[in-house]
Amino acid sequence: MKVIRTISEMRSWSKEIKNNGYILGFVPTMGFLHEGHLSLIREAKKHADKVVVSIYVNPTQFGPGEDFEKYPRDFARDEKLCLKEGVDAVFYPDDQQMYGPLHKTYVITEDLSKVLCGRSRPGHFRGVTTIVAKLFNIVQPDFAVFGQKDAQQAIIIKRMVEDLNFPVEIVVAPIIREADGLAMSSRNKYLSPQQRKEATVLYRSLKLAEHEFKRGNFDLEAIKAKMRHLIETESTGQIDYIEAVDAETLGKPVPGKRSVLLALAVFFHPARLIDNIILK
Ligand code: PAJ
Repeated sequence: MKVIRTISEMRSWSKEIKNNGYILGFVPTMGFLHEGHLSLIREAKKHADKVVVSIYVNPTQFGPGEDFEKYPRDFARDEKLCLKEGVDAVFYPDDQQMYGPLHKTYVITEDLSKVLCGRSRPGHFRGVTTIVAKLFNIVQPDFAVFGQKDAQQAIIIKRMVEDLNFPVEIVVAPIIREADGLAMSSRNKYLSPQQRKEATVLYRSLKLAEHEFKRGNFDLEAIKAKMRHLIETESTGQIDYIEAVDAETLGKPVPGKRSVLLALAVFFHPARLIDNIILK
């Protein structure tokens, strides 16, 4: 497995792979890898001859006062995990490589980046689309795998790829959870043992909504109120949002006719956890 630190080396490695006619799969990450990330690598390996994983904690997607400095980093561990998964190359650039002192260009996906997490984290998706566009231009993969865990991110990336004509196919892989239902996240590391226990309420609230939906209750306001009540009575979490939107457009949901994305963000300070479910 190759560890690549520079853009020029990444480009020439990728060029050689493509010249050999290989299909190149790509999994962008911010590292501190867990089973969720590894599931994306396994998905990529199913469809690719060669797989690149990027590990880069992207400063532009963190707002002021967010956890950029504290974000967990352990490259030695990540490297071992990638090796074990049969990754062919790890792209591990530093800030100087990714954002030169003259950097002025950003990619913005209008509207989609203003709702849900975009409302509480202004500028976040601008950072995500910018870094993913840069990574696509550097790695030049045939396809890239993203997790449904960050449902809004996946939708925004798909929109960007279509709007800017990136020759990259986007694959979205399911959410990987702990045995008790908590969605895996690098940020779960911030939780105290008590918060970790309480945080299982998030998935339970989503399952409660699914249960309501399955028995024909499409009253999304009533469902959200039940979820809110469950979270507030069974945890100390502070709800940032619980929202139901159209699963493809992030617009107004049409339950019963189109898939609904039910998404939530809840603070278990200092962590802010997100999770979601698709109601069909
Ligand atoms: P990061 O949070 O490291 O996540 C990398 C990828 O792993 C994302 O596509 C995310 O949706 C996926 N992922 C995280 N937890 C998951 C889980 N429990 N199950 C399935 N997939 C999961 O998302 C980012 O990094 C960044 O925004 C990035 C796209 C790398 C741009 O900087």
